[in-house]
Amino acid sequence: MERVTLRIRRYNPDDDNGAYWQEYSVDIEPGDVVLQALMRVREDLDGTLAFRASCRSGICGSDGMVINGWPRLACKTQVSDVASKSGMIQLEPLYNLACLKDLVVDQEPFWTQFSRITPWLMPDPAVPEPEKERLMVLEPDAFDLLSKASDCIFCQICFAACPIVGLDRDFLGPQALVKAYRFEADPRDQGHQTREAVLGAPEGVWRCRTTFNCTEACPKGIPITRTIQLLKRALVREAIFS
Ligand code: F3S
Ligand code: FES
Repeated sequence: MERVTLRIRRYNPDDDNGAYWQEYSVDIEPGDVVLQALMRVREDLDGTLAFRASCRSGICGSDGMVINGWPRLACKTQVSDVASKSGMIQLEPLYNLACLKDLVVDQEPFWTQFSRITPWLMPDPAVPEPEKERLMVLEPDAFDLLSKASDCIFCQICFAACPIVGLDRDFLGPQALVKAYRFEADPRDQGHQTREAVLGAPEGVWRCRTTFNCTEACPKGIPITRTIQLLKRALVREAIFS
């Protein structure tokens, strides 16, 4: 058993003093993740500490937070990988989203951008409803990329990692764009005309500056930047050949 210190940015909207740092010293077992350390703090030391978590296994996407200056899932981050030599780990709420309390952020701007890309499959209305599922035919590489794009768990980590989201609140952001790719690349989808205007707008794909932060931060390993580049390429091709 070891001890680590969690240095946590605390904020309570009912407290006029604003945000402040608070440190908690907790016992850690080998193999513990940051979420377990946080739960120990809340259960044993301070029941007022607020953070989101549910599945504890990298599926629900609810425990995104900034760990030592980089957005990550607390349940997928080993304490041993991020603790400093002195046993310190610094935790903050996700960047680019307003803090509601401690490590809990207001997700509304993220969901607003997501809803702008019409995030559902729009099949051709002229094609009759099939009796069973709609089958998809794609080359293996294209299917692999579409499948990866479908792995998104809405954790908002890419949104917090993107420097352009921080500069331009109108930018759709990496998650909305990777979701747009997921449908645009699907041969069963006929929604391009609906999405075209928002994707091609100044705050759409062209606002991305290919910094790759989103790809690097994504806990599901989705090549987000690549999908955004493919969306750009498709729009350019369309402009040239239309
Ligand atoms: Fe942002 Fe990702 Fe583009 S981090 S600038 S959306 S490559
Ligand atoms: Fe669900 Fe971490 S608690 S992804």
